[in-house]
Amino acid sequence: MAKLKGIEDFIQKEIAKIGYEIDSVSLEECSIKELGQFQLNFAMKLSKIYHKSPRDIAEEVKRVLDVRFKNVNIAGPGFINLSLKDEELLEYANEYINDFEKYIEYEKPKTIVVDYGGANAAKALHVGHMRSANIGEALKRLAKLFGNKVIGDVHLGDLGRQSGMLISQLMEEQPDLVFFDKNYKGEYPKINLTIEDLGRMYKIANAKAKEDETRMELVRDITLEIDKGNVAYTNLWKQIVEISEPTIKKVYNELNCTFDLWEGELSSMQYVDETLKVLKDYLYESEGALVIDVTKDDDKLSIPPLIVIKTNGATIYATRDLATIYNRVNKINPDEFWYVVDDRQSMYFEQVFRASYKTSLVRNDVALKFLGFGTINGTDGKPFKTRSGEVMELSSLISMVKEEITKKVKDEISDDRKEDIINNLTIATLKYADLLSYRKTDYVFDLVKFSSFEGKTGPYILYGIVRIKSLLKKLDIENSRFNNIPNDDVRDIILSSIKLSKVLNLSYREATLNYITDYLFEITNLFNKFYNNNNILNEKDKDTQETYIALLKFVYNICHNLLNILAINEVDEM
Ligand code: ARG
Repeated sequence: MAKLKGIEDFIQKEIAKIGYEIDSVSLEECSIKELGQFQLNFAMKLSKIYHKSPRDIAEEVKRVLDVRFKNVNIAGPGFINLSLKDEELLEYANEYINDFEKYIEYEKPKTIVVDYGGANAAKALHVGHMRSANIGEALKRLAKLFGNKVIGDVHLGDLGRQSGMLISQLMEEQPDLVFFDKNYKGEYPKINLTIEDLGRMYKIANAKAKEDETRMELVRDITLEIDKGNVAYTNLWKQIVEISEPTIKKVYNELNCTFDLWEGELSSMQYVDETLKVLKDYLYESEGALVIDVTKDDDKLSIPPLIVIKTNGATIYATRDLATIYNRVNKINPDEFWYVVDDRQSMYFEQVFRASYKTSLVRNDVALKFLGFGTINGTDGKPFKTRSGEVMELSSLISMVKEEITKKVKDEISDDRKEDIINNLTIATLKYADLLSYRKTDYVFDLVKFSSFEGKTGPYILYGIVRIKSLLKKLDIENSRFNNIPNDDVRDIILSSIKLSKVLNLSYREATLNYITDYLFEITNLFNKFYNNNNILNEKDKDTQETYIALLKFVYNICHNLLNILAINEVDEM
């Protein structure tokens, strides 16, 4: 059991012994340090239940807590302040030096499918896809840490208008390909296109379709043909998707994202027929389309029906999400589905979830959760765009940050090591900034601020790690233990770590990483204070030096594991 919870449970039992029943005790950090390390505020609540003055209750409670704690005192109307004895802190710190699992409060394990990719095939990833990747990967790791079985699902956007665009362009550039010969019966050959070709062709096709209605008609026709399963076009499109996949994988790789299910809208098509069978009693025709009514009696805002089959008979984004759910339920039978997707899709997911429960595609005891995120904005407060006003591609953002980081990395570092360091710092900059705000909050991307080596940034956190690692290399670190608490710098770090279990709990329950990024900043600051105030390498007192070494390991254990949740790689120098 995590330390904090252990103390809280102890207090709950002790006060029960003197006749006070309470659901749970919450030990808060005391805001006035002089009064104590922690504070309890249940006396006020108990006073209402037991009709006694809160100060009298606090006095009674103080008497039982005096046995274990130091400086138990009562403040204001009945706040109880207390501190842990150094012996208890030492015992605790020694127990936690290398053990991160002790900070976790496990529950009954669940199976969770996390859908957090969403990159679109044959199109560049944009900055929104980075948010999904960063938040989703971290939530997946956090949920695993809590003992769950977690399956990452990339859910590629590999069906849609871009197929019609690209194929229409190929038709124009290479009309003799057998894919375009309606009478062709043989095997389809491998096409010879590169990712660069796809980029170039998409741009041309897009521009042409915008101007020319017949071209747009062709694009729509081809897209529809693929939806209907046209063999030639589907074969061609699958090849195009495969050509674009390595680029997508490369970006996810850079972002340290790994998916257990590398599937997408295209592969979900094989489950559409079966899914429609499940939905059939609930589908009705509306303006030529097949829809499901998803309203509820107590709706304050009207919510439109979910379109499942379009007027032209084709499937739609929702059909593919429903089919994917159908397949995951049958194949994996998860307890929860988490969708880490842009908040602007929240209404859409509400429709999909309601339709899923209503039609019993999903049992009522399965949780479908939409974990929406806010947008990355430019300094104008609008979604981040390039100078020319186009959506910011993720690769451009990565290059911008890389350029900024390159200016800052030490010159002495040899070129062969430099590249990795720059890459890790770049991703650390992006991820830390991206996970710093509450998940749903929009934030402004400030390149200079986020890539600074000072302040609340990824590089600042990594710099703390660099210091720890370089010290540990110089010291004899075998079997080091906390022997004493020589000063407040040491005590403050140990105390701060006690609340880590709460930080992790909050992050996990609210599915947002900001508590963890905040905590990393707190512990790094405390560590830097300790580092500046104490001469760790030349400490004469052996017991104290051993304590310092133990503390280095203790802080490293925390930072290393927290960074690992965020999928940020460490560096050894910078
Ligand atoms: N491909 C979509 C997009 O770029 C995101 C997919 C999100 N996941 C889902 N299951 N619909 O907007």
